[in-house]
This record gives sequence, C-alpha cells and structure tokens, in this order.
Amino acid sequence: MFYSGKPSFPKDFLWSAGTSAYQCEGAHLIHGKTLSVVEKNMNHKYADPSVASGHYEFWEKDVELMKELGLKAYRFSISWPRVLPKGRGEVNQEGIDFYSNLITKLKEYEIEPIVTIYHFDLPQCLQEEYGGWSSRKVIPDFEEYCQVLFDNFGQDVKYWITINEQSNMFQLPYLMEFNENLPLEKQKFEMNHIMTLAHSKAIHRLRKANPNAKIGPALGIIPNYPASPKPADILAAKHADDLRTYLFMDLYMKGSYKQSVWNYMIHRGVEPTIESGDMECIKSAKPDFLGINYYQSRVVKYIPSHIEEKELKLNYDGEDDDTQFENIPGLYEGAANPYTDKTRWDWEIDAEGFRYLLNDIYDRYEIPIIITENGLGTVDELTENNEIHDEERIQFLRDHLNQLHLAMKDGVDVWGYAVWSFMDLLSTSSGFRKRYGLVYIDRDDTDIKTLERINKKSFYWYQGVIASDGETLADSE
Ligand code: BG6
Repeated sequence: MFYSGKPSFPKDFLWSAGTSAYQCEGAHLIHGKTLSVVEKNMNHKYADPSVASGHYEFWEKDVELMKELGLKAYRFSISWPRVLPKGRGEVNQEGIDFYSNLITKLKEYEIEPIVTIYHFDLPQCLQEEYGGWSSRKVIPDFEEYCQVLFDNFGQDVKYWITINEQSNMFQLPYLMEFNENLPLEKQKFEMNHIMTLAHSKAIHRLRKANPNAKIGPALGIIPNYPASPKPADILAAKHADDLRTYLFMDLYMKGSYKQSVWNYMIHRGVEPTIESGDMECIKSAKPDFLGINYYQSRVVKYIPSHIEEKELKLNYDGEDDDTQFENIPGLYEGAANPYTDKTRWDWEIDAEGFRYLLNDIYDRYEIPIIITENGLGTVDELTENNEIHDEERIQFLRDHLNQLHLAMKDGVDVWGYAVWSFMDLLSTSSGFRKRYGLVYIDRDDTDIKTLERINKKSFYWYQGVIASDGETLADSE
C-alpha cells in the first residue's frame, strides 16, 4: 500500500535499545557468577567475556546515558549463572542486588525494563551434569530460575521475554553443546521441544506470580525469498520458512507442530519425543506478544536431493566475503541476493523485507509485536576528536524505521522497537570488531583500554527520532 505524509509514531510507543548479559556485563567469573555455555563456546579468536563492555562496573553511567538518549524502555537479559551459580538452589544475592539496582534506577528515570530471561546463557554446570537442553531435567531448573526472577523483580518488571532466538539456537555453532555420538538433527528437534516446554512453563509461572505482567518469546527471523520465479524455487522458499520460522512460531502461537514439518521429521526419523501433557502445556501458554529480531533477509533456491549437504559457515572477520550458505538437499540452499547491499559480514541489508516480514507474521498470528532487535554490525572508527561518524548505521536504522512505520500503517500492531544495541558489546560471532552500539566503548579485542563511553553520531540521531515521535525519520540528514 502507498501512504504519504511524515512518519509519526504513537505517543506511548516504546522507543528502546537492547543488550544481553554475557555480551556487555563482564565480571563473568567473579561476584559469585559461574560460566555459561555460550561464554565457553563463543568465538575465542576475539575478546573474551571477562570484561565485555564493563557494564557490571559502569551500569550507573550507562543508565545516565539511556536517560540522555531519551529511551522509553531498555531491553536487557538476566544471567542465569549470575543469579543461580549452580543452576539451581543457592541464590547469589550479589547477582540479585545488581539487577535490582539496575531496575530501580531505570524506573526512577521512567525507562521501562524489558527483561529477557534466557539469552543463550545456560549455566555450564547444568550442561556437564545432565547435558543441558538435551534433558528434561532442565525444565524444573529453568522454572526455578524463572520463579527467582518473578519473586525478586516481579513487582517492577511488566515485560518479560522468555527465550531469545530459540530458532537460531540450533543453527549457530556456539550457542549450544551437542553430543557428538548422537544424530545431530534428532538432538536439535528434541532440544527444541524441551525448550518450548520450558518457555511454556515460564508463561504459566508468570501468570500466577503477576497476572498483570506481559510475556512473550523473541525470535530471530530471516524471511526467505525465492531465487527466481521458478515454481521449484518458490516452493523452496516456503520450505525454508516452514523449517526455520513457522515450526517455532506455530509452537508458540498455536501450540502445535506445523503438520508439514512434523511429517518431514517423521520421514527422517528425527521427530521429538512427546510425553503425555506436553502439548496441552504448550497450547495453554499463549504469549501476550511476539518479539522479533530482524537483521536480514535471505534468498533460497531449490536443490535436488543428490547434492551434498552443506552447513552454514559464517564470515567471522568481516573481510573475506566467505559465508557458506546451508542447504537441505531435496529442499533448498541459501544464495546471495543480487538486489540488496550486504554488510561487511555478508548480511543482506533489506529494509523492505522488514515490512514484508511484519505483515506476513501479523497476518498469520494477529498478535501484538515488539521489535526486540534491529541494527547494523560494522567497524566503527574513532576520529582524532573522539567522535564516531557512523552514517552507515544511521542510514540502516532510518530505512528500517521508515519501513516499520509503513508496516504499522498497513495495520500491523507494533508497540515498541529496540535498536541492537544500546552500547558496543561482544558480538557472539566476531567480538568487538563488529560493533552495533549507539554508544562506543573504548576497547578492542586485544586491549581493554579505558572503557570510556562515547556517544556515536547515531546516538544523537536516535535521540532526535525519539523526541519527535519519529517525525525526523523523514529528514535525510
Ligand atoms: C542476535 C542475538 O542473534 O544477533 C544477539 O540475539 C547478537 O545476541 C545479534 O548480538 C547479532 O549477532 P552477532 O553474531 O553479530 O553478534
């Protein structure tokens, strides 16, 4: 549809920015915190999580900057191993105090906390004890962790995200540990089922703890486009969407397995074990909203079944254009899009895809949406005057926000938007070389330097967007 006039967002729109615990806090093995699975497995060619952005130390300064920016909300995650260092049982009071102080300060500044319960950081001790997400033993432990959060922060936190990017958890190499002696695909679907149950239990717990609070998942979604008008490519894109997106969405929203995906799993002998009561538990845990993390779209083409299977290999250094797209022989293979620009890390830049995706998701599920992540990972250079002129990021955010606004005009119910990320943080794949923040952190992968916070040009640009309820999005400068 076509609309004219300046963009204007609702007065109560939650302009936000986000982070996650292991990517920004640091202090990863002190103050009572123990190691998480993602910290153990992340790309160690780059910075480690021991200091990250120094947020554990400088959180007050960071909240001051959030206030200066004019944020209406801040999305952050709580570290499970900081709160429950053994995964369950004894609570680390220092961890509780840290988050409690942060939430109090945010509330004082009228910045709404949006809290992610689980952002990739399973306590490593639970991985070692029973294989983490491969065992149903994780479900009561996760419930206990949720209960600790609801008991301690339930009065002050209105918005909860259960699990960040459940769909990506099974595709990227560093987010989960798998058993090398068992078939990988089967393990992934078993873990996905267990994680969906844990997500559902969290919703049921919150309903009891605080019926007025709102809760939902955050999914990382990449819409798949057919590589050509060939019917086989169009079907390939549908298959990719079903396996990579709608499997997860249908579980969350409809409480059932998408029939075509279920049949595919049965055919391959990789379907998860479903115990009595599982599907009832999942179906009755209807989320209040859906969080969407959007960075890119993807093109896929049909490939026949005799082609060799390929795994996704990421471009880690942002230099070589060496992404290898995954495939599923007989279904699809990823390909580059000749019509979009790419980031240094080969991610397709596709603002219109954002509007397309939002319309598609809303048509299917008719649920309120918050954009939980959207942003540009790139290399930022500090000038001699200690400034960062990140015009590329501004362009990315402006284009995406304009498309978001159009999607809202189309009728999609979106109530908030979080830039990824508030400050530079440890990119899980590429350390501090790949920066996302509105605030620069003075450090790099090898040198911790001063950790000084420096507002980038995008910080002041976003400040203007928030202050004008989005009207300045119409300005090109
Ligand atoms: C999302 C994650 O997948 O993408 C974030 O929720 C992450 O934690 C972001 O930082 C960007 O990915 P990357 O690999 O560039 O850090």
